[in-house]
Amino acid sequence: MDIAVIGTGYVGLVTGTCFAETGNMVTCVDIDEQKVKKLSSGKVTIYEPGLEKIFERNEKEGRLKFTTSLQEGIKDAKIIFLALPTPPDGDGSADLKYVLRVAKDLGGLLERGDYKIIIDKSTVPVGTADRVNNTILQSLIERNIDNPQDLFDVVSNPEFLREGVAVEDFMKPNRVIIGTDSEKAKKILGELYAPFVRQGNPVIFMDERSAELTKYAANSFLATKISFMNEIAQLCERFGADVDMVRRGMGSDERIGKRFLFPGIGYGGSCFPKDVQALAKSAKQAGYDFKILEAVMEVNENQKKHLLPKIFSFFNNDLKGKKIALWGLAFKPNTDDIREAPSLKLIKELAAAGASIVAYDPEAMINVKEEIGDMITYAENQYEALKDADALVIATEWSEFRTPDFLKIKSLLKKPVIFDGRNLFELYQMEEHGFYYESVGRRSIKI
Ligand code: UDX
Repeated sequence: MDIAVIGTGYVGLVTGTCFAETGNMVTCVDIDEQKVKKLSSGKVTIYEPGLEKIFERNEKEGRLKFTTSLQEGIKDAKIIFLALPTPPDGDGSADLKYVLRVAKDLGGLLERGDYKIIIDKSTVPVGTADRVNNTILQSLIERNIDNPQDLFDVVSNPEFLREGVAVEDFMKPNRVIIGTDSEKAKKILGELYAPFVRQGNPVIFMDERSAELTKYAANSFLATKISFMNEIAQLCERFGADVDMVRRGMGSDERIGKRFLFPGIGYGGSCFPKDVQALAKSAKQAGYDFKILEAVMEVNENQKKHLLPKIFSFFNNDLKGKKIALWGLAFKPNTDDIREAPSLKLIKELAAAGASIVAYDPEAMINVKEEIGDMITYAENQYEALKDADALVIATEWSEFRTPDFLKIKSLLKKPVIFDGRNLFELYQMEEHGFYYESVGRRSIKI
């Protein structure tokens, strides 16, 4: 099938590349000339494991093209994906200006006899498919086109891509949600997604509004799970229980499930914070006070600061002149994304208290440098960060931090002190090696 993807950000690029991988002809459109130039020359513009390889192959084989022209991009396409940014506006709602602008432009380009399906891929508030539909209709009416609704259908098909495993999530989705009442669109999209659900996972058809809400409900529920566990971790510390045990005990109940029960120093990224806020906001606009979501956000903000009192208390509230080694800057492993990353909050608070920070992250240092520059020092590797530091703080659970050389850590740090925001190490290990060790929801190990 011929497909156009409008917007070559994270979602657009993964979507376009993965559809090309199953043999479709994909044209990606972006207004950013530099980006289009780079992509056309075979270079991927985001970091995502596994993407580069299939991107290069499909580009070389002519199934993946790039252009800045919307007209050229959609010329042959039967299916048009909108993967445009929906940043939070001033009050936390998703800003639809990019989506609606493209919808208007599409209305100026659609032609009779050339039916197209226009798909919202980005996370957009409930009712957006209707707004996109009406915007396109309006443009067609202004062009005096008869029966304009026959020219197109607007469908909601939200993405569920986790950064770091987005290619896998796209190629083998747990489910595909398709929101439309159009039988024609259902048939075409069912065929498009067939290769991705061969293992038997469902394509679930529903109306547009339910599809739009499904995305927010899924992300908000996952964020709720995390905040809930973070509160259980708070209780564990106060009751002398171990959150790892509680997590395993709870998670074995199939109704609860083992995943997304890991406490830490809060969720970050481009999705959870934005989506929880947007759902809470649109609930309010609809006259409903979604109390749980307000609490989820508040708990998460507090959790980002969870390690700070422990650090301050260890240093008797005096961090002036102290050197802190920081492992991990990205909001989670396998990404260079630092949006809403808990590490940034830690850095700001520790620096404000007079500490100097030497950080290491396998992928995200460039982005942090762009954002905060020389507020901190950047190390070449995880061990270099430790040299003469007064303590190690861990903010992201990169695999390479999980089984480090503890003897080396001890020899490089001034004192063997670790504040672990991701519970990477077993308590017995820390005891054996003689570390002062504070983590989340588990007992402290003091030396
Ligand atoms: C998420 C959703 O999973 C994906 O389906 C969606 O469409 C986009 O948002 P992503 O933001 O890439 O994906 O990351 P994810 O792996 O889901 O983790 C989100 C955050 O939750 C991270 O900050 C992570 O550290 C945190 N987290 C996750 C926990 O604190 N504990 C857990 O048990 C799981």
